[in-house]
Amino acid sequence: MTVSSAPLAAPAPLADPHVLYRPQPDGDPGGPRRIVILGSTGSIGTQAIDVVLRNPDRFQVVALSAAGGRVRLLAEQAHRLRVRTVGIAQADKAAALREALADAYGPGEPLPEIVAGPDAATELAALPCDSVLNGITGSIGLAPTLAALKAGRILVLANKESLIVGGPLVTGLAAPGQVVPVDSEHSALFQALLGGARSEVRKLIVTASGGPFRGRTRAELAGVTPRDALAHPTWDMGPVITINSATLVNKGLEVIEAHLLYDIPFDRIEVVVHPQSHIHSMVEFTDGSTLAQASPPDMRMPIALGLGWPDRVPDAAPAFDWSKALTWEFYPLDDEAFPSVGLARHVGGLGGTAPPSSTRPTRSAWTPSWPDGCRSPGSWTPSPRWSSRGSRPGWSSRAPPIGGRRRERELP
Ligand SMILES: NC(=O)c1ccc[n+]([C@@H]2O[C@H](COP(=O)([O-])OP(=O)(O)OC[C@H]3O[C@@H](n4cnc5c(N)ncnc54)[C@H](OP(=O)(O)O)[C@@H]3O)[C@@H](O)[C@H]2O)c1
Repeated sequence: MTVSSAPLAAPAPLADPHVLYRPQPDGDPGGPRRIVILGSTGSIGTQAIDVVLRNPDRFQVVALSAAGGRVRLLAEQAHRLRVRTVGIAQADKAAALREALADAYGPGEPLPEIVAGPDAATELAALPCDSVLNGITGSIGLAPTLAALKAGRILVLANKESLIVGGPLVTGLAAPGQVVPVDSEHSALFQALLGGARSEVRKLIVTASGGPFRGRTRAELAGVTPRDALAHPTWDMGPVITINSATLVNKGLEVIEAHLLYDIPFDRIEVVVHPQSHIHSMVEFTDGSTLAQASPPDMRMPIALGLGWPDRVPDAAPAFDWSKALTWEFYPLDDEAFPSVGLARHVGGLGGTAPPSSTRPTRSAWTPSWPDGCRSPGSWTPSPRWSSRGSRPGWSSRAPPIGGRRRERELP
């Protein structure tokens, strides 16, 4: 892959495949890339570790962090990867982690340093390394994102919430090329954008599987259960993003994410439903050509690309078997049944505190007490306050009165 480090005439967007960022201060260009994995026990984290373990010559994990929900797994990961530091957000789990580490390492073996407390991930993000993979769920990931950028690391970003909540903070801090996206759609856009100059991009087309409720009307969504929502047809992910995918709230967040990463106006970012999740997104260029990135749905592909960028990691994930028949379908998005994408476009356009506020449903929708604690997609409607500042056809004015001020107070 050919990537230039020459300066561009126009300011580079947050993520730009044409610009190669060198981690600061000085990495060892010849050695394996040194990585910190935040959220190592989650869906993204465990798949990243799978990629690392299969490529010991390319990657070396120096530190891991998690919240504290799975201390045994965290300890086993630390032992397997021989990391120097383990972070745990729940300080009251530090003793259990130490015990689990002692079990995993065995008698006489020196244990890694433990950093405990709510700032553990932020501290780890600034440790000496080349890349920080932020695979934490939720806007709690913002501080580690900012810490990694300030420390001069390559930020391999799965935690989209930190970008949406942090918007201008993140874009203001990041050097050109410093952020490499992991979300499959944004990784696809990243790859397709390499096919032309920025001035030649007409629009970004973000694909959506449509989730388990694809094809249902708004009325039909009223009776769906959280259990239905957790049964994603094509992706196996953590619970928050799975619920957000069923409602297409996740797709709305991804539209804002695409705007922030690639500096493309909202009216040039389209969403198209593609049930197979084989094409992960597309870029249409001014000459009428569209470049798509396709691969079977497997997050190890974009994770490996993020960790290894600008190099591809051989056999990161299985490719298509072209000797078998494949059908790819595309449908327009039903904005009435799934208003989340329109809402995201709207709040993204408003800017300020509106995009961070839009992540609130993503936090409130899933709770450990599900299924009873989860609201159905049919109950999610845009705030009338937002609607009144820029009306969109089809938006319900009968939405429950969720005040913008209340939302702002709830920001992390
Ligand atoms: N999963 C996917 O396929 C996918 C695809 C695209 C984008 N993403 C994005 O990637 C991020 C992670 O998603 P996921 O599905 O991997 O979530 P997940 O399976 O729920 O895992 C979340 C991870 O974050 C850790 N964590 C939570 N709070 C933390 C804190 N305060 N400090 C440190 N670690 C903390 C959790 O630790 P415990 O295990 O201890 O709770 C866990 O390791 C999300 O932003 C999501 O939108 C995910």
